[in-house]
Amino acid sequence: MEKISINTTGFNSEIFIGENWEAVSGLIPENKTVIVTDDNVNQLYGVRFPKFPIFSLSPGEASKKLGVIGTLAEKMIEAGIDRSGFVLAIGGGVVCDVAGFLAAVYMRGIRCGYVSSTLLSQVDASTGGKNGVNLGGTKNMLGTIRQPEFVICDPALLLTLPQQEYLSGVAELIKTAIIGDKELFELIERNVDKIMSRNQELLISLIAKSVKFKGLVVSKDEYETGLRRILNFGHTFGHAVEMQKSVKHGFAVAAGMKLATDFSFEKGYIGQDEKARINDMLKSFKLIDRLDIKEDQMEKLVLHDKKKTGTDIHFVFTQGIGKALVEKIPVGEVLGFYKRYRDKK
Ligand SMILES: NC(=O)c1ccc[n+]([C@@H]2O[C@H](COP(=O)([O-])OP(=O)(O)OC[C@H]3O[C@@H](n4cnc5c(N)ncnc54)[C@H](O)[C@@H]3O)[C@@H](O)[C@H]2O)c1
Repeated sequence: MEKISINTTGFNSEIFIGENWEAVSGLIPENKTVIVTDDNVNQLYGVRFPKFPIFSLSPGEASKKLGVIGTLAEKMIEAGIDRSGFVLAIGGGVVCDVAGFLAAVYMRGIRCGYVSSTLLSQVDASTGGKNGVNLGGTKNMLGTIRQPEFVICDPALLLTLPQQEYLSGVAELIKTAIIGDKELFELIERNVDKIMSRNQELLISLIAKSVKFKGLVVSKDEYETGLRRILNFGHTFGHAVEMQKSVKHGFAVAAGMKLATDFSFEKGYIGQDEKARINDMLKSFKLIDRLDIKEDQMEKLVLHDKKKTGTDIHFVFTQGIGKALVEKIPVGEVLGFYKRYRDKK
């Protein structure tokens, strides 16, 4: 088991990697706790949950909406949860985003913690304190940054994860490696088969490396005024793909990472060899899908992305495996690249 502390302004969040998730009972208050989960996780693991009221969401992105927050808050009032209450999320990125936002706004903020049950949320979503819901067609438009008290990442939970969900998490793992950890990239390169077979020991070390890197970034820039932007590698195009094609988050990010890698190559930031290694890795996990978004659609989607400020965008490039570079560039330059990319197809 590895324990990683994330220190942000006046707060310490503990991430337990390789811990048995049922040890969560020892981390939560004895009363005034509610559990937020989704129907799939509840069906698989609900009988082993600590004995508290369970609010179970419909699985999937559609539950990340303001209406759900309102409904849950009403249920919390009914359950007698006051400012001393605790929200425990047991689920993937959707559950953690909803539960984290609920805890942040309920009575102006109550305590919360997560048992993270997907690879994507273990390697990425549950570290860093970002939470939120979608609004209209825009992802994560309403949300806060607020650290959970703890996160448990138990790789045993990943054994029941559908393959596509698992691969979606592998994409976020690859993202971390590309932007910040060359050794992690090499570890993934050498262990494709073991990763595919969900080797528990290896997963603990991969998740720990990813969480350590994200924790370091978040501790330096909790509110995304600079460094934290590198975590958005692949997300400018990725969010557009996610909104347009409703594919899983990691697959959309993978498509975005492929584009960002080719764009980095075109700008001369990486050589042919590194471009090939990144693309090969995405292919070896079957993360590359055909991108058939037309230019005018892409323009609308990219302009819609909330990370755009005025006519410029903070675009994340790779400057070699393990190194990222954020550049504020005109949206037109991003779209120009996309047009050239499509013309070559
Ligand atoms: N807050 C952040 O920093 C951050 C970062 C990255 C992504 N996200 C968000 O995370 C969300 C995606 O998260 P996700 O990929 O975990 O999706 P998810 O929460 O929808 O889970 C994926 C599916 O797996 C099922 N599932 C969960 N755990 C399971 C288990 N152990 N066994 C079997 N099935 C299980 C769920 O019911 C669901 O159907 C997106 O909304 C994305 O925006 C947030």
